[in-house]
Amino acid sequence: MDPKTAHPETIAAQALGWIDERTRAITPPIHVSSTYLRDEDNQYRSGRVYARADNPAFDQAEAVVCALERGAQAALFASGMAAATAVFQALAPGEHVLAPKVMYWSLRNWLTGFASHWGLEVELVDMSDPAAVQAALRPGRTKLVWIETPANPLWTITDIAATASLAHQAGAVLAVDSTVATPVLTQPLALGADLVMHAATKYLNGHSDLIAGVLVTREDNELWQRIRRVRAQIGGTLGSFEAWLLLRGMRTLHLRVRAASLSAQRIAEHLRLHPRVQAVLYPGLPDAPGHAIAAGQMEGGFGGMLSIRVRGGEAAAIAAAARVGLWKRATSLGGVESLIEHRASIEGAGTPAPADLLRLSVGIEDADDLIADLEQALR
Ligand SMILES: Cc1ncc(COP(=O)(O)O)c(C=O)c1O
Repeated sequence: MDPKTAHPETIAAQALGWIDERTRAITPPIHVSSTYLRDEDNQYRSGRVYARADNPAFDQAEAVVCALERGAQAALFASGMAAATAVFQALAPGEHVLAPKVMYWSLRNWLTGFASHWGLEVELVDMSDPAAVQAALRPGRTKLVWIETPANPLWTITDIAATASLAHQAGAVLAVDSTVATPVLTQPLALGADLVMHAATKYLNGHSDLIAGVLVTREDNELWQRIRRVRAQIGGTLGSFEAWLLLRGMRTLHLRVRAASLSAQRIAEHLRLHPRVQAVLYPGLPDAPGHAIAAGQMEGGFGGMLSIRVRGGEAAAIAAAARVGLWKRATSLGGVESLIEHRASIEGAGTPAPADLLRLSVGIEDADDLIADLEQALR
């Protein structure tokens, strides 16, 4: 059987089954060359010129992500932010874009700061409300709709298929930050999105030991070529060792994401009854806003991210985070180790995170251990 036509678990575990033809090694070498030999007749028939534009170290990782997202092409970037901002930098000043009110804070700050000064007309919308999206779209002028689902730090759900259809009717493309859902749980391109972005720093790599980003496109078109030029020219290019590490991390993607989702669901159900917890924000809870949409577009779980609002306000939340033993008090998400974070402290002014909110990234440890540690921290 050809690994390329196998199930996604097989594609990830075998990294598409590639071997190094020269040595017969089943894991790839790390290509570190920054430049490539020109032919004697002055041509570059290898297709490689300089590693800021392209690098054989990316080929296998890009092919795996592309296959998992069922896209036409993928491109690795130096970070999730480099990947996301490349999409906006491929637009022209004066163009109108919609982005969510609830989203990864650093990208929101970049959009309302740098991108707006640079000339993009950025409008923040409640993406969980299709009527609000419809009202904000300006047919012919809106070029891009950016969504994140589930969205940091409240785990708000956006209906990908409905938003794709609204964006397309207005002549805009839809890009989805699918970092939290991962290709294991959601396939945005199959639901009508044009671009998918991942902070590969998170679940794709899964071990909290590199910073990387990736974009996948449904079709190789003019916008995609502009995005590729942004990477090559501005140079938000991933390092060779990081690309190799990412490929290794992705081999266990499905096991990790399923384990984290199962534990997150258990933890959410446990904490919603907890006397010290005012609310649990998790799309897997039946009464969560967006649960029905999440159930329709996520398959096999609702992801490893949840937030809790601790009774007693900010001081009680920070005190609970101070008492954990197993959970690590740190920012980021999607690693094998569980992290807990007082989100408003890092996001600062303009955050939609209430002051009593703790964000939990559930890892792959034993769920009973994680629950016991939270129990003693909340006591
Ligand atoms: C949902 C989401 N998107 C994008 C990013 C940015 O990724 P990076 O930190 O790799 O630049 C993050 C980082 O936390 C994230 O959580």
